[in-house]
Amino acid sequence: MHAIGVDIGGTKIAAGVVDDRGEIVAQVRRETDADDTASIDAAVADACKELLADHEVGAVGLAAAGFVSPDRRSVLFAPNIAWRNYPLAENVHELLGLDVPIVVENDANAAGWAEFAFGAGQDATDMLMLTVGTGLGGAIVIDRQLVRGKWGVAAEVGHLRVVPGGHYCGCGHEGCWEQYASGSALVRDARAALVAYPTRATRMLELAGGDPEALKGPQITQAAQEGDPLAVDLLATLGRWIGEGAASVAALLDPELIVIGGGVGAAEELLLQPARAAYEEQLSALGHRPTARIELAKHGNEAGIIGAADLARI
Ligand code: BGC
Ligand code: NA
Ligand code: ZN
Repeated sequence: MHAIGVDIGGTKIAAGVVDDRGEIVAQVRRETDADDTASIDAAVADACKELLADHEVGAVGLAAAGFVSPDRRSVLFAPNIAWRNYPLAENVHELLGLDVPIVVENDANAAGWAEFAFGAGQDATDMLMLTVGTGLGGAIVIDRQLVRGKWGVAAEVGHLRVVPGGHYCGCGHEGCWEQYASGSALVRDARAALVAYPTRATRMLELAGGDPEALKGPQITQAAQEGDPLAVDLLATLGRWIGEGAASVAALLDPELIVIGGGVGAAEELLLQPARAAYEEQLSALGHRPTARIELAKHGNEAGIIGAADLARI
């Protein structure tokens, strides 16, 4: 059975028709405004309608960047989108008028499921997925089962506190891991560094058109790949935050595989190498225990679409 998966983030949504083997057969995108939840409903329904014009589907999965209710119908809370006890499935159902199940999943859980079922984790039984984007999302697979927790909101690893008294977070607390290990953190620190050390970051500044505030995440990766030393350092710092935090999570879960997804995955070894080094440095009993592999998501930014579609038909 084909299903639609929609990945709903803070700035855009991506929707696709996904077949039984996890292949995306058609895909569309829409820009969104994180503060205007009704416009997100409308964009989701509109993207689905465009896909439904040419495809028959048996279910719709919505991957949402927030805390999802255990009945998989609404978003209880989101740190980076204005959802509060928000009936997402019901709203989209009304706009779409389509008689198939509509299921909401946490975006990182969806991405993690896609990697486990069809991607980097296909041979794994115990896996941690980290999605590094606007926020930091997590998915936990233990003994081949996605861990949802009692109330659907397990694996919110982005809100583990890693720095007492650190940066404010959209969840209302301070020093959360996502304030250090996310695309937003990377851009925040890169903009500040461009102001502080312009001569060390000539390529980054050039790509941003000379305006630090105009700098975007992909430009940091591109500058680093072209050798900009400050961009290389910034990605290494992000990698270290990811690796160190992952070592703490490993103290709890003992995964065999840690999969890194989200846009910054494009930086590949510039991110992974420091992440692996920091993971090993911070892991307890290194040398006396097997260590998890840290790998990139196979489905990159499409994992959320694939997982949402697949979880909607289960
Ligand atoms: C949210 C998670 C989400 C993650 C990635 C975090 O801020 O709390 O629910 O999975 O961002 O989008
Ligand atoms: Na999650
Ligand atoms: Zn937080």
